[in-house]
Formats: sequence, structure tokens, C-alpha cells
Amino acid sequence: QGDPRLKAISEAIRVVPHFPKPGIMFQDITTLLLDHKAFKDAVDIFVDRYRDMDISVVAGVEARGFMFGPSIALAIGAKFVPLRKPRKLPGEVISEAYVLEYGTDCLEMHVGAVQPGERALVIDDLVATGGTLCAAIRLLGTTQTKWKAVVYSCGATPADKLFCTFCYHNNEERPTF
Ligand code: PRP
Repeated sequence: QGDPRLKAISEAIRVVPHFPKPGIMFQDITTLLLDHKAFKDAVDIFVDRYRDMDISVVAGVEARGFMFGPSIALAIGAKFVPLRKPRKLPGEVISEAYVLEYGTDCLEMHVGAVQPGERALVIDDLVATGGTLCAAIRLLGTTQTKWKAVVYSCGATPADKLFCTFCYHNNEERPTF
């Protein structure tokens, strides 16, 4: 956390109180995307961290994982795999449901997008309950990918938690939330 770039990145993330409903402090990364230097620094930090780790898959979680994942994938020489909300992908999919505050949602991935034994990186903008990240990990787990799960920032205090990284491998320790 001693990286001097983190302060500017954190400050570029706008916090919008009570969106989308009362009590939620929304972490708005669209303001980070408007700041070229902070946006590039955010991508570069992940690229530096993961470029020499034999990662061949960057899996981005819809929608905000799509804003960071492809840049990271190109820079580290990996393919990009979108993990999408239901009924968006046209081919055969595998699905993983996850629990929301009210009801459930689902992430889907194209069959064949990743191969057994590939090493994957999951990118999203934040973790709240962890339900989305866990569903992404389960999806990759079904393909016997060796995965690493990473979030960009998390929770209501991004200054404290920017670039926290969860690294786990198949059949080893898994995150709990
Ligand atoms: C947000 C965020 C993460 C997820 C985190 O996405 O971008 O993907 O919620 O929440 P969790 O840890 O409680 O699962 P959202 O569901 O709002 O979808 P969107 O990016 O498509 O708007």
C-alpha cells in the first residue's frame, strides 16, 4: 500500500451516497476513467503485478470488469473472457447463480472459452458481499482453470482497500465472505 499512485487513484473514484438506494455508498469508477493518468496507473499496477505469472486468461465480470480487464489482458499477453449476465452470450454457456440482497442473479461464460489447466485472473471493480466474485470463481472452477481472483477496489473505503488481491488456486483455499 506504499505505492504513491494509489492516493490519486483513490481520489479519482467518486463516492455517491445513497445510490442506487438509501444507505449505499456507491463507488463510481467512471470518474477514474475520465482521468487518463489515474486510469493508466490503475491498469499498470495490475499489469506489473501479473505480467510474469503465466496467466493466459483475464476474465472480466460484467459490466465494470469489462472496463479494466481487456487493457490488462492485452498488456500481459492473455486472452479476455467476458463473464456476462444471463442471456447475453450467443453460444453454449455454463452458468453460476449467486445471491443478491433480494433474489438471485447469474453469471455466464461460453463453453470452451478457457481450457483446463489455464491460469486465469478475474477482474471486477469491487467486492461488496463477494457473491459475484465467488460465482466467477465457481465458473472458472468448473473448467478446472487455475484461477486468481482480483478486485480493483473494495467496500466503502477504497483508500484503505485499493488493489486488494485475492489469490487462490483450484482445489486449494477459497475466499469466504
Ligand atoms: C457490482 C460490482 C460487482 C458487484 C459486487 O456490479 O461491479 O460486480 O456489484 O457486489 P457483490 O460483491 O455484492 O456481489 P452490479 O451487480 O451492480 O452489476 P453491473 O456492473 O452490471 O451494474
